[in-house]
Amino acid sequence: MISYIDNLFVIEMKNSSYVFTGGDVPTALYWGEKLHGEELGYLSKKRGHSSFDPDLDRNREEYGFWDSYSVLESCLKINYEKNRQLDMRFEDYFIRTEGGKESLILRFQNQYSSLKAEIVYEVYPEFDIIGRSMRLINDGEDVVIENLKSGSVSIPPQKHYRVRYLSGKWAGESHRNDQYLENGAFTIQSRTGNTGPHFNPAFALDNGTASEQSGNVWFGLLGYSGNWQITFEKTTFENVKITAGISNYDFSYTLYKNEEICTPIMYVGFTACGYGSMSRILHAFENKYILPRRKMGRVLYNSWEATGFDVRVESQKELAKRAAKIGVELFVIDDGWFGQRHSDRAGLGDWYVNKEKFPNGLVELITYVKSLGLDFGIWVEPESVNPDSDLYRAHPDWVYRFNDREPMQARNQYTLNISKPEVKQFILDFMEKLLSENPDISFVKWDMNKTLLDVSAGNTATDKELWHRHVIALYEIWETLRRHFPNVEFETCSGGGSRVDLGILRFADQCWPSDNTNAYSRLSIQEGFSYFYAPRIMTAWVTDASTGEERKYERPYSYRFHSAMMGMLGIGANISRFSEKTLMEFAKYIAQYKEIRKTIQYGMQYRLSSLLESPLHAVEYISEDGEEIIIFAFHQGFCYDAPEPRLYPQGLCSESLYQVEGMEKPLHGSTLMKAGLETSLYGDFDSKLIRIRRIQN
Ligand code: DGJ
Repeated sequence: MISYIDNLFVIEMKNSSYVFTGGDVPTALYWGEKLHGEELGYLSKKRGHSSFDPDLDRNREEYGFWDSYSVLESCLKINYEKNRQLDMRFEDYFIRTEGGKESLILRFQNQYSSLKAEIVYEVYPEFDIIGRSMRLINDGEDVVIENLKSGSVSIPPQKHYRVRYLSGKWAGESHRNDQYLENGAFTIQSRTGNTGPHFNPAFALDNGTASEQSGNVWFGLLGYSGNWQITFEKTTFENVKITAGISNYDFSYTLYKNEEICTPIMYVGFTACGYGSMSRILHAFENKYILPRRKMGRVLYNSWEATGFDVRVESQKELAKRAAKIGVELFVIDDGWFGQRHSDRAGLGDWYVNKEKFPNGLVELITYVKSLGLDFGIWVEPESVNPDSDLYRAHPDWVYRFNDREPMQARNQYTLNISKPEVKQFILDFMEKLLSENPDISFVKWDMNKTLLDVSAGNTATDKELWHRHVIALYEIWETLRRHFPNVEFETCSGGGSRVDLGILRFADQCWPSDNTNAYSRLSIQEGFSYFYAPRIMTAWVTDASTGEERKYERPYSYRFHSAMMGMLGIGANISRFSEKTLMEFAKYIAQYKEIRKTIQYGMQYRLSSLLESPLHAVEYISEDGEEIIIFAFHQGFCYDAPEPRLYPQGLCSESLYQVEGMEKPLHGSTLMKAGLETSLYGDFDSKLIRIRRIQN
């Protein structure tokens, strides 16, 4: 519920309150466990320290319009031809109700020009989440925006401030990190033009004592797939402000008369029940409000790690035949089916079927795959082009480049300037052709294998807009395709997990978190991922190798399957080389996954034990109705003198009776949670799937 009482805006949610003052500079007063927000007026008084800090309220502003006062990060900074004056005055507010969901909108008017701003708070009370954004409307002369953020939030005073965030690299994304804040600023960001592998736009913050099961945790995710920035600032006045939005890096954007621009949405939330609760809230929130639809994820086969670029119709048919036999539901052909794409050196951009590999067109493979009872999916990378391609030869001016130099290549490719109307149209045309000529394509894996380089349209005055325009064009393309092909599912992939964020996930059904398919490496990548993103979107394949021929390894199939079953199971191994016995083993695991996938994809996830802290790694899933419990447990290495690890399930009802598969007698929830379960895991890369059923409430 949203209310406005005595110049206080009070947002009451299920378990939390968010309170700030109104006026020209809305200032954070409280965010945390639920209280009587309307009583907080006594905290609202002007505070100053000295002529060096004349207004301490500005350290907690909800949205910093830059008006010359600048101690901390501001949210909006502008430039007119002759001045840069911004004096935003509060006009009024209104509450909008849409689909049972309330939003608070505060309206501001610049005193020096016809520029209006609307600060928006979308409230999701059942999840204790607020979506923060700003809409800027220009009714007057053209204005250049130099800084555009979604908003700021302030954390109530704590003894310590620990920021938990994800960092990584290609094939090593989503690793969990902790950073204690000292006075000063700490920033996570992307300057690579996409969400990036180095950091993910998500954070959690606690006082250093929160655990999986307890403690106050404030969290936030930015829904943006371009250059972004989240800055945590701690002042000497024990104030922590977090500001998120589009990165300042090489950014400027001209808003012409009668135009408007909306910032990305920063979703922020609070829980008093630890990191586990934060993740469960986020998973349920994403499933309900972010992802385009609720649908059970299919078990897919992807040929990339088996055949690479050599996707000939015969080899793909053989793989598909075997995939059908082991219970796969969706067959996805990866890179290499088009143009002269025999390696990553050529063909990208030439979206016509390679006749050598598919003499009868794609239809032969699609028809065969469908006759096996499988669905068909296909890989594309529309934003990129190889210099050695017909597309580039015809349109060298379509790629990002400065006038006077050859653009830098990465993976032998350039990036297309998709904000150019003709380039955007080219992508829409070939995608629409592909999907309408082949109505049996029900899945698209959209890849993007490089960082954006040489982002220029030939040294134009508006070059600095291109980073943002790329993201907007991308969203428009995805939105159009989804609208025209509502039954096609989309996967977001960027050389692995470089494009995973709540912006693209409004259009994507699932994502590819990492090119690293090593089942052991995946445990920590997947754990980091699970902090902020739902298992329903996390694809994981059982493969032969990790990242290349030279890195072949052997892990038991049980271990590989258990690791990949923790999200959306897929197979990427070269099953055409498998014996009948191995195929049957695969079939057994796939059948098992289908029995439990509803609980995994849509249940509540509990991280019971992490390999970052213990030899035992265990994750539990409880079905939405509480009847089924699934636990995956992993033990990495045999240790002669180590005791058998025990795991302690969570989230059960103390007085309900549960039957653990393989145990003689049922046990009460309290017994299981307090005394724990013996795992009988000892060996190297030992793992186990534990199934539990509630048999009495
Ligand atoms: C990178 C992806 O992450 C892989 O799965 C695969 O699709 C390759 N690109 C293909 O080039």
